[in-house]
Parts: sequence; C-alpha cells; structure tokens
Amino acid sequence: MADPRRLKVAVQKSGRLTDPSLELMVRCGLRFSRARDNLVCYGENMPIDLLLVRDDDIPQLVADGDCDAGIVGGNVAREFALAHDSEPFRTARTLDFGSCRLCLATPVDSGLDTPASLAGKRVATSYPRLTESFLRGIGIDAEVVLLGGAVEIAPRLGKADAICDLVSTGQTLRANHLKEIFTVDESRACLITSPHPLPDTASTLLERILMRVDGVLAVNGSKYIMLHAPRAKIAEITRLLPGVEAPTVLPLDGCTDRVAIHAVCTESVFWETLEALKGAGASAMLVLPVEKMLA
Ligand code: PRP
Ligand code: ZN
Repeated sequence: MADPRRLKVAVQKSGRLTDPSLELMVRCGLRFSRARDNLVCYGENMPIDLLLVRDDDIPQLVADGDCDAGIVGGNVAREFALAHDSEPFRTARTLDFGSCRLCLATPVDSGLDTPASLAGKRVATSYPRLTESFLRGIGIDAEVVLLGGAVEIAPRLGKADAICDLVSTGQTLRANHLKEIFTVDESRACLITSPHPLPDTASTLLERILMRVDGVLAVNGSKYIMLHAPRAKIAEITRLLPGVEAPTVLPLDGCTDRVAIHAVCTESVFWETLEALKGAGASAMLVLPVEKMLA
C-alpha cells in the first residue's frame, strides 16, 4: 500500500523527457537513488517518489490520482484532455524543455505535399483527437488510423499514406524517408497535478516543489555578471547589460574614478555584449551561471 504522505510524481521512463525531468527534480533539491531497471526513484531527503512510466500513461495516472503530479509533453496532455469533458488534471507549470511539434508528414516521394492533398487518404497517429480536430478544422476528410507506437513505419507497411507524429530533431522522420508538410500543434513539457485533494502534508510539499520549479524556471538562461567600470559610465554600462534595470554598484578600495558593477542578466550574455561593455570602458568582466533564485 502506497504511503499517502509521500508525494508521487510520474516521469517518462525512457525518452526525450526522462533526463531533463529528473534533472529538474534534482535542481528542486531532491536527492534520490535510481537502481537499474527500477521503476521507482525513492526520494532520500524529501518524502517524494518518482515513478518511471510510459509518457502516454502519465495523464491517466494523474487524472485518477494514482500519481499526485507528472511531467509530460504538452501534446500528450492535450490529447488526453480532449477525451474528457471536465478538466482531468491541472496544468500547474509549462516547463522550459521538451519542445516538439506535432506534424503531418508524408513519404518524401509521395507527391503529398500539403494538408489538402490528404483528402481521402489514411493518416496514422498516436494522437487521434488532435489529428482529427485539425483535419476537421480545415475541412479535410481523411481516415485517422490509431497506432500506439512506431507510427513512422506505417507508410512503409502500407498501413497509411501519411503520419501525424511528434517531431523534435527531425531525425526519426529523416531516417524513415518522411518529410514534414504541416505543423499541427507545438508544445513543451508541462507539470500536471492531480485534481483530487491531497493530504495536508503532501499538498504543502507540492506547493513547495512548485515554488522551487518557479525558482529554477526564473534563472533559466540568467547570468550573474561582475565587472569594473568608470564611475562616469555607470548609466551607459547599465543600458548594455541585457535585462538589467538596477545593478548593484560598489566602491573599489583606493580607487575613486572606477566602481564594481554586479547584476543578474535575465537574457543571454553574448561575446558581443562583453565586447560592447569593454568598448564602454568596462574591465575585469566575469560571467557566472545562476543556479537558483527565490523572489
Ligand atoms: C516521439 C516521436 C518520434 C520521436 C521524434 O516519440 O514518436 O519517435 O519522438 O523525435 P526526433 O524528431 O528527435 O527524432 P516520444 O518521445 O513521444 O516517445 P514514444 O513515441 O515512445 O512515446
Ligand atoms: Zn509517447
């Protein structure tokens, strides 16, 4: 019997979302052990367990309350939600990884180059509702063939003329001589939570984790920059710092005309940025990664 005081978070067992999902939990402060082939990662410093499951099962597990939360692709979540009248789970956060698109694709030499050319054809997919609602929306009457996996080989098997599947790098399509003809839906990974009430301790813990997720998301791409600059150039230097409004300005011991400037840049700091800063008189520039931020 599962311990109701421990928070259960479903994560993709093996696939595009596995490593970034586990890394997110580590960045939220969770330490866990992961035994080979073990489908549960036991949280050692917090009462949280990560359940490693098929990504397509995650919405159901969360909707049923078997898991309290889950990290799943936006398309998988939307496909599941389309089958339900009421909200089957809450989308608590959209994350900054797992970007992919749901695309119509056809064999390279098929002559099927537009969604309109699919009229009367068969389209294989694991996302029948998203696919059907798209085709219906543009008035194309095509047969949707539901496949649980290996959708990309359906045209070669003669099971379909086209597919509607997730594309991330495009490698799977290329390897199967398929070309993208239309993007139906775009998404990133999201953190979904159960609609069922949780025991107080688990609910407090979930809130804490969500706050930490916000902290991780907030520093995404952020850099801490430190430099020395002429006192007379503080305003000019500040304008050059990407995403900075009010930097910290500190005196330099024994030096009246130069100061130290420290700031969190919320946008990328490129070499060009540093060169422009140098041009404005900055020196001793250091750019550091930001690990955590709590407002
Ligand atoms: C999707 C899709 C392709 C692959 C595409 O699978 O079904 O197999 O990703 O990625 P690529 O463009 O980088 O080659 P998913 O991660 O959903 O795994 P699953 O099909 O096993 O659920
Ligand atoms: Zn999947």
